[in-house]
Amino acid sequence: MRMVDLIEKKRDGAELTKEEIEFIIQGYTKDEIPEYQISALAMAIFFQDMSPQERAFLTMAMVESGDQIDLSSIEGIKVDKHSTGGVGDKTTIALAPLVAAVGVPVAKMSGRGLGHTGGTIDKLESIPGFHVEIDTNQFSELVNKNKVAVIGQTANLTPADKKLYGLRDVTATVNSIPLIASSIMSKKIASGADAIVLDVKTGSGAFMKELEKSKELAEAMVEIGNKLGRQTMAIISDMNQPLGYAVGNALEVKEAIQMLKGDGPDDLLDLCLTLGSYMVYLAKQASSIEEAREKLQEAISNGSAIEKLKTFISAQGGDPSVVDTLDRLPNASYTIPVKADESGYISKIVADKIGLAAMTLGAGRATKESEIDLSVGIILHKKIGDSVKENEAIATVYSNSENVEHVVQLITDSYSIVQEKVEPPTLIYKTIK
Ligand code: URA
Repeated sequence: MRMVDLIEKKRDGAELTKEEIEFIIQGYTKDEIPEYQISALAMAIFFQDMSPQERAFLTMAMVESGDQIDLSSIEGIKVDKHSTGGVGDKTTIALAPLVAAVGVPVAKMSGRGLGHTGGTIDKLESIPGFHVEIDTNQFSELVNKNKVAVIGQTANLTPADKKLYGLRDVTATVNSIPLIASSIMSKKIASGADAIVLDVKTGSGAFMKELEKSKELAEAMVEIGNKLGRQTMAIISDMNQPLGYAVGNALEVKEAIQMLKGDGPDDLLDLCLTLGSYMVYLAKQASSIEEAREKLQEAISNGSAIEKLKTFISAQGGDPSVVDTLDRLPNASYTIPVKADESGYISKIVADKIGLAAMTLGAGRATKESEIDLSVGIILHKKIGDSVKENEAIATVYSNSENVEHVVQLITDSYSIVQEKVEPPTLIYKTIK
């Protein structure tokens, strides 16, 4: 086989075979196929697309390029959740103990990541003593015992995807549905999930800004998962404004704890109940989505979800007393209000700008080496549709420096206030099974 012939084949719109896709991915992983040829192929895929069968072959070839996590020693159906990411997305922290409380095994492999705040692991590490440095045997034992554990990504997962994603980033080929879908699904499948629930975000603060494109991506991922024998469902949820009110590592942990106590923001709760009910249903812990949702609501109201969070924290070295005394989580030295410059209704909050403001405070990493400040961030007081009075606080900045005028300005600029009443946005646009 010659790579140039395969590039030509895809350029002209033909379908690549399983063997051809494996040849490409194996050759690229071993540095036997040069990056300029893979770049040309990625561009051909960008314009010519891939059939559902090609997408599944590509996903599997990337899964097989590295280690695959064996979760077979964990009892039950392991359902993983993935979010395409957004501002204030602390869902995993609340969802993991919540679904574990109704018997779903949650064996979560998570990352730190770059972005406006840290990843799930950074957020969890704001709990004093909590750590994810456990070996894979301990990890399985903890999930069998408590139904929930989180481990860092130590294995060599999907190296082909890592290389290809890096190359796509510099060849203007990131925004291709077959390439994004196979990239995300390869990581989920290599992490050992039996079933997968996807939260595809849409809107100004999301990776996919338009609803139609988000729907296309969700359908592509569901089709890949189902073709590869993993029951997969997806929802499309709103990211035209941050999720919940908190943006920042410890602040988001506090909000997730409050949600498990039955005192969290409505949008975060609704999203967790929706995603959670699919997880519970796919794990066969309920016979319908409605029954699954009722079980989750019960776990919040009878306190078993918050108890599960405490067990999870203690099992990984953390101090569970933070759950009852939120002030034991890292606190920033200064709180600075951001005030509305006129009265009216909030019509828009540019989530990306709120993310950038959090990043500027030190909540996120610009490079892999950056240190993050777990205590800083932003609490929004107003969301789209809320009324506001001139000089009322629309947000509070939590900072370790008094000099935050530029952050206050970013937050002010991200809000739009209008005179006529505004309807809050829909949270969940669509479910794809
Ligand atoms: N996230 C991924 O993991 N891969 C992509 O290609 C895009 C977003």
